[in-house]
Amino acid sequence: MRMEAPVLVFNEVYHMDCRVGLEKVRDDAVQLIVTSPPYADSRKRSYGGVAPDQYVEWFLPIAAQLRRVLRPDGTFILNIKEKVVGGERHPYVLELILALRREGWLWTEEFIWHKKNSFPGKWPNRFRDSWERCLQFNRRREFYMDQDAVRVPMGDWARQRLRRLSTTDRLRDNSHVGSGFGKRVANWVGRTLAYPTNVLHLATETGNRGHSAAFPRALPNWFIRLFSRPGDRVLDPFMGVGTTALVAQELGREFLGFETDGEYCALAKAQLAQEAHALARRRA
Ligand SMILES: C[S@@+](CC[C@H](N)C(=O)[O-])C[C@H]1O[C@@H](n2cnc3c(N)ncnc32)[C@H](O)[C@@H]1O
Repeated sequence: MRMEAPVLVFNEVYHMDCRVGLEKVRDDAVQLIVTSPPYADSRKRSYGGVAPDQYVEWFLPIAAQLRRVLRPDGTFILNIKEKVVGGERHPYVLELILALRREGWLWTEEFIWHKKNSFPGKWPNRFRDSWERCLQFNRRREFYMDQDAVRVPMGDWARQRLRRLSTTDRLRDNSHVGSGFGKRVANWVGRTLAYPTNVLHLATETGNRGHSAAFPRALPNWFIRLFSRPGDRVLDPFMGVGTTALVAQELGREFLGFETDGEYCALAKAQLAQEAHALARRRA
């Protein structure tokens, strides 16, 4: 008799290698994946780096599982950054993007996370890194996205720009390169909210989080509001101290996380329980 692999429950984080854990998740189970895997070769001593030349080979089987568990209209956000090897940027992230496309993923968008609190630094041939990629992949061209959920205050530019409108500002100005896009600046008069750009200006917050590479909460918060509805399921297969899970819980989504380091996993569990208690008290 064939034994079925047990299925994992949601609203739980597991001290488990995601390569094992993902096999226990049903097809089409999650709406959104937000994750930051170990970058190539980095932090070898704390959580095992993968050599840049082997990164694609290591990641592809995991990506195949992620594709299987993602709903057809779901989104996968991959936070990653190239490292410098021998004085130049290693192209493993670019190679990974091309390999994922060959596996059937659509590379839909690229968001830049600008770490706005980076302190100054200089090396002989480069300056401080203060941004990372957040790559968006989808299974299909039609995916769930709530753009209104992430609107931002119009900002000071509007006061200046919209004070005196030209004739062109009052007309629809179609793209001159034939993209089909166009703009009518006058449409923004009287509005208080605008859509953001694809650059996220967010400070890092690793100080008292117990993990040297934890997400700032605002990062998963933005993607979860944009790409999922309340009640949807959010997965982080490399969850560290569980930032994605914590924010998913706060926003009323279900969550699932995997982490190989027992201490990080214990920290995530403790924080999730503490915040669930506080949320329940606030709602009572
Ligand atoms: C960049 S950190 C993620 C930090 C996380 N975003 C947070 O906010 O805490 C990557 C994590 O993946 C974990 N990890 C590495 N290999 C793993 C694997 N095969 N399965 C699950 N977790 C893994 C590491 O221990 C590390 O904590």
